[in-house]
Amino acid sequence: MNGGETLPPRAHLLIVDDEANTLASLSRAFRLAGHDAAVCDNATKALELARAQPFDLILSDVFMPGKDGLTLLEELKSQGVTAPVVMMSGQAHIEMAVRATRLGALDFLEKPISTDKLLLTVENVLKLQRLESENRQLRHRLGKHEIVWKGEAMRRVMVQLERVAASESRVCILGETGTGKELVARTIHERSPRASGPFITLNCAAVPGELIESELFGHEKGAFTGAAGRHVGKFEQANHGTIFLDEIGDMPLSMQAKLLRVLEEGEVERIGGDKPISVDVRVVVATHRDLESRVREEKFRQDLFHRIYVFPLVLPPLRERRDDILALVEHFAAQVSAQNGWKPVPFTAEAMEALQSYSWPGNVRELRNMVERLMLLASDGKVDLATVQLALPKNSVGGIVSSLSSSAGLAERVQGFEREVILAELKHSQQNVSLAAKSLGLERSHLYKKAEQLGIDLRAMRRRQEQPQD
Ligand SMILES: Nc1ncnc2c1ncn2[C@@H]1O[C@H](COP(=O)(O)OP(=O)(O)OP(=O)(O)O)[C@@H](O)[C@H]1O
Ligand SMILES: [Mg+2]
Repeated sequence: MNGGETLPPRAHLLIVDDEANTLASLSRAFRLAGHDAAVCDNATKALELARAQPFDLILSDVFMPGKDGLTLLEELKSQGVTAPVVMMSGQAHIEMAVRATRLGALDFLEKPISTDKLLLTVENVLKLQRLESENRQLRHRLGKHEIVWKGEAMRRVMVQLERVAASESRVCILGETGTGKELVARTIHERSPRASGPFITLNCAAVPGELIESELFGHEKGAFTGAAGRHVGKFEQANHGTIFLDEIGDMPLSMQAKLLRVLEEGEVERIGGDKPISVDVRVVVATHRDLESRVREEKFRQDLFHRIYVFPLVLPPLRERRDDILALVEHFAAQVSAQNGWKPVPFTAEAMEALQSYSWPGNVRELRNMVERLMLLASDGKVDLATVQLALPKNSVGGIVSSLSSSAGLAERVQGFEREVILAELKHSQQNVSLAAKSLGLERSHLYKKAEQLGIDLRAMRRRQEQPQD
């Protein structure tokens, strides 16, 4: 928690008015109150400024030569400028105030402006924004974004996490699927000085290559076929906060070059835009891939690698930190009970032992789904060894797979094991890929990739499944 929460935050304002005297007296009043203000005497210039840099508040006159304040307000909103706008006018009438409010103005002040009233309005707007961001933080916390751990391996990770969260360093989170990369990224943001800012995520593997650029940097109306309106990209949305680029190892090479430029210059350019926009964003990335070998294979740019690989945080797979399993089972069991309004369901010691010795290819996500399944399968009000044996893939309790030749090497045996587990799960779910993915604790796209590596043709299975049954 930071102790400065009760202090009024220093705000960056933009004042738009055609009268030099008004600009001078208002900006002085703001400076005396500890804020800083940029001034501008016409709407066209104001729009340019507001698009180029983020303001905490824009204060604009209505009547000005050229474009008037209400048109400015309309254009600010339609161009995706999110700063709150307060209008002021010397010839205010109620219809004008109503129109301004409809267009999205937060308040309407009559001239001559009383400095006290103006400052109060500004403080209120800023307070509202702060409440909104606190609200966002609270929602995150209530959303059970809590890292549960017990053993030495995760203790080391948590020490590193605390240290790096407090800094502005770029972080690269590495780990297999389901090890908690996204949870860790969110926690870094929440424990950082940027916690009250936004946390924005982009999964580079889930967005088609040709759309990533517009997702990240935004586009202007008509920038390409299908760009019907303006779109504010994730980098701009993440201003003063953190952007989390998930599965960065899967980013297409052409995009990597563009990302590199943004990281070097701290500016983004919307597609079809004519000016760079400066952004203040902390970058956290994650991947389940081995980035160094992607670099060797020339699938990942070396220069980008060095830019993002500032602080690597490695999340060990669950099978290498079995001492966390008990705490995680208890955590998820309590969570599932609370969500469903169930009475707590105890796990017997034998059941826990079996869960601790399983290999968990889907890591913590698989464990969480398994706990829920076990609680549904529980008989006599408890989860015992029989329940676990029923729920875990066949032959996996004890970690020994009988059907594999002992002459195979480790990698081969592990692959064979993974193949068996996936096939068993697909059989269990009657070839329903989504269901199988869910109970393995994998995302569908991951199951597809994994199956492909292991020579299982999921697409053919799906086609068979989609054929009309007679
Ligand atoms: N240590 C932990 N404590 C509590 N919950 C955890 C922990 N690790 C992971 N989880 C939970 O497990 C699920 C999977 O975690 P997350 O999505 O962060 O994994 P991931 O590494 O990003 O996986 P993927 O590579 O598949 O995207 C989430 O619901 C997350 O909240
Ligand atoms: Mg993830």
